[in-house]
Amino acid sequence: MRVAVAADHGGFVLKQRALDEVRSLGHEPLDCGGVGDAGDDYPDFVRAVGEAMTTGRAERGIVICGSGVGASFAACKIPGIRAAVCHDTYSAHQGVEHDNMNVLCLGGRIVGEELAAELIRAFLGARFTGLDRFVRRLRKVDAIEEEFRSHQ
Ligand code: RB5
Repeated sequence: MRVAVAADHGGFVLKQRALDEVRSLGHEPLDCGGVGDAGDDYPDFVRAVGEAMTTGRAERGIVICGSGVGASFAACKIPGIRAAVCHDTYSAHQGVEHDNMNVLCLGGRIVGEELAAELIRAFLGARFTGLDRFVRRLRKVDAIEEEFRSHQ
């Protein structure tokens, strides 16, 4: 599958390893930046990954910032993106299997290269099961957004 990968300065060191890991798993990485500029901002890279995914250039995304936190909530602002920080392998695959997670967020200041590579393997190796109860829960997640948008 095609996988969009991006990182701000906090995640830049891990980005090359992430690209290499995606490729070594037989997937096609799409480098959406950055270049390690200390003044860059993680939402810009989340946006680039979101654009790649919403225009069909990538099926999944990996965004790396310092902690993974900012990237995860920025990515969840994009319709159709289900993103989370996963620093354990169980969450990295179960988030896909149960919750149809399509963007993995990593903290470049939290995880080392080898753990990051394992997390990417777990994430890309997983598929959404599509079981009724998981679909039902995702619909409820979407309904929360709709409901609270109409309150504003
Ligand atoms: C950048 O210094 C840092 O704040 C950012 O990468 C990230 O950790 C935000 O969640």
